[in-house]
Amino acid sequence: MRDTRSIRQEILQLKEERNAILLVHNYQPGEIQDLADMTGDSLELSRAAASMEGDVIVFCGVDFMAETAAILSPGKTVLLPAEDACCPMAQMITADELKLAKSRHPDAAVVCYVNTSADVKAESDICCTSSNAVKVVNSVEQDTIIFVPDQNLGRYAQRFTKKTILPWEGFCIVHDRITPAMVHEARKAHPGARVLVHPECRPDIIDLADTVASTSGIIRHVCSAEEREFIIGTEVGILHRLSKECPAKRCYPLSEGAICRNMKKTSLVLVRDSLTTLRPRIVVPEAIAVRARTAIERMLAL
Ligand code: 13P
Ligand code: SF4
Repeated sequence: MRDTRSIRQEILQLKEERNAILLVHNYQPGEIQDLADMTGDSLELSRAAASMEGDVIVFCGVDFMAETAAILSPGKTVLLPAEDACCPMAQMITADELKLAKSRHPDAAVVCYVNTSADVKAESDICCTSSNAVKVVNSVEQDTIIFVPDQNLGRYAQRFTKKTILPWEGFCIVHDRITPAMVHEARKAHPGARVLVHPECRPDIIDLADTVASTSGIIRHVCSAEEREFIIGTEVGILHRLSKECPAKRCYPLSEGAICRNMKKTSLVLVRDSLTTLRPRIVVPEAIAVRARTAIERMLAL
C-alpha cells in the first residue's frame, strides 16, 4: 500500500518535471484512471491529444490510441507505457488487404474505425469511432462504403443509413463473446434494470439492448438517467468511472468475463518507468502520418 502511494507520488512529480499529461481510456485499471488528466472514450481522447497543452502525452490504453495521439500531435512525445498493449481487432486488417478491397470496389468510400493501424488509416477516406460511426457513414458522398475492421459496428451503422455498407470481417474478442443468454440471465437477476451495450456487440445483442453507446456515452447515460439500475454490456473497466461519477446508481456487468487483457497491461510501475525513461515512444513515420491525419481530421471536423 505504502509502495503504491510512493509510486503515485513519483508519477505526479515526474509529470510536473516532464510537463506531461496522462490520457486514460475508460477500460484502464482503476488506479491508472485515478491519476488521469482526462479519462474518456476514443473520440474524447483523440480530441484531447490534439488540443491539450503539454510536451509529453502518456497514453494509457492500447497501441492504436497512442498512434492516433502521435499522428494528431506531431510535436509531442507520445508514450505507451505497456509496449505490447495492442488491440487484436485492429490487427484483423492490413493496409495491403485494404488496398485489394479498394481495387475490387473502386467507387466505394473507405470508413475505418479508429481501432486500426496508422497504415490502414492512411488508406482510408475518413475515420470514425464508436460514438460517431453513424454520422461519419452518412457524411460521405459515395453510396457504397467499405467499413473496416469491425463487422459489428459496420452492421450497427447499417441500421441508420440508406447507403450500402460492406463490413470487413473483424470483431472485438471481448464484445463478440457476449451472448443473448447473458442478457436474459442479467435481466432475470436485475428486473427493471436498463441494458446498455457498446456497438461492438453482435447484432443479436444490439436487438436486446435498451441503449447502444460508446463507453463515455454509456457513462453519460447512466449519470443523467432517471432510472437507478443498469446492466452494462462492455468491458468491465468502465465500472470504476461509473461508481465514482454516478455513485447513486447501481451498475451490474453484463458479463464479468468481459475483460480486455491488453487494456489491463498498464501498471503504475510502467507509467512511472515510462515517464522516467521517455520510453516506449510511439512514432509514426511522417509519410504515413500525413495521410492518416487527413482521415482523422475529416472525422474531427464533423
Ligand atoms: P470507445 O471509443 O467507445 O471508448 O471504444 C473503444 C474500444 O476499444 C471499445 O472496445
Ligand atoms: Fe480492442 Fe476490444 Fe480491447 Fe477495445 S476491448 S481495445 S476493441 S480488443
